[in-house]
Formats: sequence, C-alpha cells, structure tokens
Amino acid sequence: MRRLLAGTRIRLTLAFAAVLAIAIVVADVALYLALSRAETGAAADVLVSQANTIVSGIEDVNGEVRFGAGDLPTETQQGVAVEAAIVAADGSISQSPGQALSNATLTSIAATARTKTTPAPPFSVRDSRGVPRLVYALPLQTTQGASAVLIVSRSISELQTALNQALLFLAVLSLLAVVAGTLLAHTLAGRILEPVRRIASTARSLSQNELHRRVEVEVPPDELGELVETFNGMLARLEASFESLRRFTADASHELRNPLALMRSELEGTLARARTPGEYQQVLLDLEAEVEHMSRMVDQLLMLARADAGALRPAETNLDVADFLHETAARWRPVADSRHVQVDVEAPDSGSVRADPDLLRRVMDNLIDNATRHTPEGTAVELIGAPTGGGWNIDVRDHGPGVPAAARPVLFERFARADGARARDTAGAGLGLALSRAIAESHGGTLQLLDQNGSGATFRLFLPRVPSSP
Ligand SMILES: Nc1ncnc2c1ncn2[C@@H]1O[C@H](COP(=O)(O)OP(=O)(O)OP(=O)(O)O)[C@@H](O)[C@H]1O
Ligand SMILES: [Mg+2]
Repeated sequence: MRRLLAGTRIRLTLAFAAVLAIAIVVADVALYLALSRAETGAAADVLVSQANTIVSGIEDVNGEVRFGAGDLPTETQQGVAVEAAIVAADGSISQSPGQALSNATLTSIAATARTKTTPAPPFSVRDSRGVPRLVYALPLQTTQGASAVLIVSRSISELQTALNQALLFLAVLSLLAVVAGTLLAHTLAGRILEPVRRIASTARSLSQNELHRRVEVEVPPDELGELVETFNGMLARLEASFESLRRFTADASHELRNPLALMRSELEGTLARARTPGEYQQVLLDLEAEVEHMSRMVDQLLMLARADAGALRPAETNLDVADFLHETAARWRPVADSRHVQVDVEAPDSGSVRADPDLLRRVMDNLIDNATRHTPEGTAVELIGAPTGGGWNIDVRDHGPGVPAAARPVLFERFARADGARARDTAGAGLGLALSRAIAESHGGTLQLLDQNGSGATFRLFLPRVPSSP
C-alpha cells in the first residue's frame, strides 16, 4: 500500500510538472514572438521613415535620380546607423559610404523591388560578413518612366542578441519555475495523500481486538472526508458484527454447556450406585428431554446461520391462509389443552399467500408456543388472519402479562429472554423470535410485536402478496 501511494504521489507530481512545463513553454513562445515582433516592427519603422526622409531630398534630373545633399546619409537624424543606396534604372549604384551590402545583393534586391507595384515591408538579409540586416526597398518612378530603387538597411545583430538574451533569460526562469512547481506539487501531493496513508496504516495496524479505533485525520468535507467517513463507518459496522458474533458464540457455548453439565451430573449420580429399572428409565427419559432441547437449539442455530449467510431460500407455494391457520390450531390443540388454554382462529374464508409452508409453520409454532406459555390458564390464544393492502397480516394474540417495556428493544435478538426465566421447563433458548423474524424477512415480510393495549401480547407477521426479494 505504501509503495502504491508512493507511486500515486510520483504520478501526481509528474502529471502536474508536465502540465506546468507545457503551459510555461506555450507562454514563453507567445512572449518571445510578441517581443520579437514589437522590436522588429520598431526597427522597421525607423527604416521606413529614413527612406521617406531620403526620398524628400532626392532630385530627378531628366530621369536620373540623385540625392541632392551630396553623399547618401549613414544615419538617421536620431543617430541610428542606417545605410542607403540608390540603384538607378540603368543599374548604376550610388550609396552611403561604407555600405555593408554588396553590389550584387543591392542589384538583386532592386530587381525584386521593381516587380512590385507597392513597396514590400522591410525584410532581413545577411550582408557579406554574415551580419543580419533589415532592408527596405522603395521603387522610385523617374520622369522618364524607368524605375530606380532606394534601398535602406540597418544591422539587426544587436536586436537579435538582445532577443537571444531574453530567450535565455526566459528559459532559465521557466526551468526554475518548473523545478519549484514540481517540488511544490510533490509536497502538496504528499499532503493530499496523507489521510489515505493514515487510513492504510490504521487498517494495517488493526487487529480484531482494536476495531474500536478510528482514523482521526483533519480533512475537508470533500472526497477525502468521504473516504475517511466511509472507512470509519466500515470499522463501526465491523466492530458491531464482531461484537455480535462474539456475544453469539459466547451465548451459544454457554447455552450448550449448561444442559451438558446437567446431563453429566445426572449420569454420574445415577452410575454411582445400582438403580432399579424404573429409576434408569426415569433418568433416560430426563436425558431424552435434554437431548431434544439441545438438538432443537442446534437446529435453530444452524438455520439462523443459514439466514445470516443469505442461504435461507423459501420454497414458496400458494397457501390458503384460513386452511393453514385452522390446520395449525388443530395441531396445537393437544399441547394447548395440556396447558389449559384454547386456540381460536379468525380468518376470512378465502385468500392465500405465497410462502414456504415448512418455514411458516416454524414461525407459527414459535409464536403459539410463546403465547400458550404466557397466556393464563383458561384464556385463549387467537390466530387472526386479515388481508391488507400489500399482503396478509397474521396476528398471534394472547392474554398474558405482555412483554416488559425494558425487554422490547432486544426481544428479537438471539438468546433474548424477557422474563429472565432460565428454568428450561418453561423457557426455550431465546432463539425462536430471532429465527421467526429471519424467516419472515426471507419471505420479504416482517415480524413485529404490536403496541400493547390492555393485557396480552400481539405478534404480527406480515407477508406480502407478491413476495419482494429480501
Ligand atoms: N407472548 C409472549 N408474552 C410475553 N413474553 C413473551 C411472549 N413471547 C415471547 N416472549 C418473551 O420473549 C422471549 C424470547 O422469545 P423466543 O421465542 O425468542 O425465545 P424462547 O421462547 O424463550 O425460546 P425458543 O423459542 O428458542 O425456544 C421469551 O423468552 C419471553 O420472555
Ligand atoms: Mg419461543
């Protein structure tokens, strides 16, 4: 993870450096072009104005063009060195003293200029020594119709040196900016990735016993904040599920150890001396009851584990509600009679739900078992089926003391026993309601304890008409 983060940091830094370098190069090129164009333009303006000054001093004597004031000037009035030459129509050249351009160059420039109707903008050539010069050629119509050409030129080697220096300066400055920017990006990337690194190191150092820890990093409420929040949320969920797993395992082993210890002491006591066949039979009957109790609990635990793993798949068929309730009541009557309570059914004659009959029987058995245990002798447990908008409500109502308010929030948790009755002759393991709810949910339904009005508890099982996937 650390190496991965280092890689991300380098990649972020390089990406930033690349974008910065491209931006700076583009800016440099634009700046250089603007500077060069401005400087060359200013130099060209000087040439054009010098050409115009010279033209105003030129005389045309019978078609022969001549500069009246003697030699052609070698500089402007402002003292800028500008050389001039006039290439006459017949090809003869008069020029300023020390002309840098060769006659051949002047002649060829004049020949090109004569072909144009308007003067070309100043352009650059190299003189005989290879020095760059800016040249402006102005064709002059003589009175004889032939055309002479005035050529003014100035050295631009200084200008080019200055531009080259500016370019070098820009390059060095840009390089420094890219280096500084890259270092800054590296630092920033490190700072941005710091929470991620902290999350990674927390995750690495977490052991099963440290799930209470959280990533504590100050981050703005952006994507990073969301990441930290999500990670801490995940830790909280992990902590909760580890805790419930731990409690579940502890409770399960506790619940299984008790009957085993009881059976063992009963066996030891019995084997301590010789017994009559009747006594042996009684012990075996006791043991059978214990084994039944334990296997019921193991069976419930296995089913809950399957529900936890999402493997509780009801084999649904169409089930007539009234028939199902009457059949269940009939099945429970012998037990109810032995508990001196009645089981009554109230349901419309037609109507069905889609449910797995075996699983639904388990839910009803647990609810009726609970109800017949809690309802006082001589009262009735009522099974009431009623269609609702989205499906069917099946209520199991008794007339007992109800569920104490303190026990209600945890009633559907595993091993929850409201009456604290650990005496196993009246109480089960406390798994029945947890499993019943898991079965209801696997059908896309719900199981809840209704608010108590008057005496007794009412558990409501809701099954949707068309089961939605749980
Ligand atoms: N109708 C009821 N009236 C009052 N208390 C109830 C009623 N039904 C359940 N309870 C309380 O809820 C607890 C949990 O019920 P649950 O069916 O989950 O477990 P159990 O009946 O104790 O054991 P198991 O069903 O696993 O054999 C019961 O121990 C009891 O205290
Ligand atoms: Mg029960």
